[in-house]
Amino acid sequence: MSKTVKIGKSEVTTSPLGLGTNAVGGYNLFPNLNDDDGLNLVKTGIENGITLLDTAYVYGLGHSEELVGQAIKDFDRDKLVIATKGAHDFSTGEQVIRNDPKFITEQVENSLKRLGTDYIDIYYLHFPDHDTPKAEAVGTLQKLREQGKIRAIGVSNFSLDQIKEANADGFVDVVEDEFSLLHQDHGADMMPYLKAHNISFVPYFPLASGLLTGKYKRDTTFPDDDIRSQIADFKEPRYGKILTAVDAIRPIANAHHATVAQTVLAWYIKNPLISVVIPGAKKPEQVAANAKALDIALSDAEYQTIDAAFDDFKHITSGKSLADPE
Ligand SMILES: NC(=O)c1ccc[n+]([C@@H]2O[C@H](COP(=O)([O-])OP(=O)(O)OC[C@H]3O[C@@H](n4cnc5c(N)ncnc54)[C@H](OP(=O)(O)O)[C@@H]3O)[C@@H](O)[C@H]2O)c1
Repeated sequence: MSKTVKIGKSEVTTSPLGLGTNAVGGYNLFPNLNDDDGLNLVKTGIENGITLLDTAYVYGLGHSEELVGQAIKDFDRDKLVIATKGAHDFSTGEQVIRNDPKFITEQVENSLKRLGTDYIDIYYLHFPDHDTPKAEAVGTLQKLREQGKIRAIGVSNFSLDQIKEANADGFVDVVEDEFSLLHQDHGADMMPYLKAHNISFVPYFPLASGLLTGKYKRDTTFPDDDIRSQIADFKEPRYGKILTAVDAIRPIANAHHATVAQTVLAWYIKNPLISVVIPGAKKPEQVAANAKALDIALSDAEYQTIDAAFDDFKHITSGKSLADPE
């Protein structure tokens, strides 16, 4: 295994490559992965050196957590880092986002039961609600930390201002938000604040839902009912520009006898702004292949070449480094 990373100011440590499990039991999001394949996928990840498993209540309304809980039974719990999230309330029949202390406390208890574990390593507020003061919501998680039920506190899909409010007492350890080579503007404004306050960053959609694996061709087409036909990344002229940038990764991948996906994941692992990268997967063989990214050490020049190939996808005010604290 390569380096170990620490999550914020907490005692949680993990390998820098995790596994996103929104497809595992996540029938409401991805209908095609059956339970046996989902379980196998998680176990394959752990067997291949992945220690952090990223799940959430909303992935299958608890079913992803249940399957992750089943999968980890065969392994040493102490060596694993379980991250889960809550904020979605469907009890009225409609989706309501809630961060209030009563709801969040119940959510943590329910996640513990579904995961079949005594503690959750990282608990995220999945989305901000409109009403609860952010520091009060995080204060609830801090109380749960003091009770030993969670070990690190995270927020996800919070704006920079909301993160500042949430971290008023310095309790936030980690932020999870969208960020990838293709979407470097996402999360960019918050990086200096996170660095200055020792808050880790976990990017989601790191493979841009598969686009950054190099598996798509210029003549690939998608039927109208395929979600990809609606996504801006898959529409010309942006699609062609993305494939050109991905092509720049191929010689570097070849030099490491690696795939494009492994090389992209190695870029995130080397990126100093990123703590843990959590690619999702639909097949165990994808997880096993992705785990090999842990063995790829990109040189500084290779890292810069990949960075430069995706320059067009940075929409950041020039002259200011993402890592400079405000
Ligand atoms: N906090 C939040 O609000 C939030 C939001 C979204 C996601 N997340 C988390 O972030 C994780 C990652 O996001 P994501 O899974 O949606 O997107 P992603 O990591 O960008 O893409 C994963 C998809 O890429 C394809 N893929 C993965 N490895 C591959 C390989 N080696 N070769 C070819 N294709 C490969 C698979 O889809 P196909 O096989 O279908 O192409 C896989 O499902 C999630 O699982 C979830 O845990 C969090």
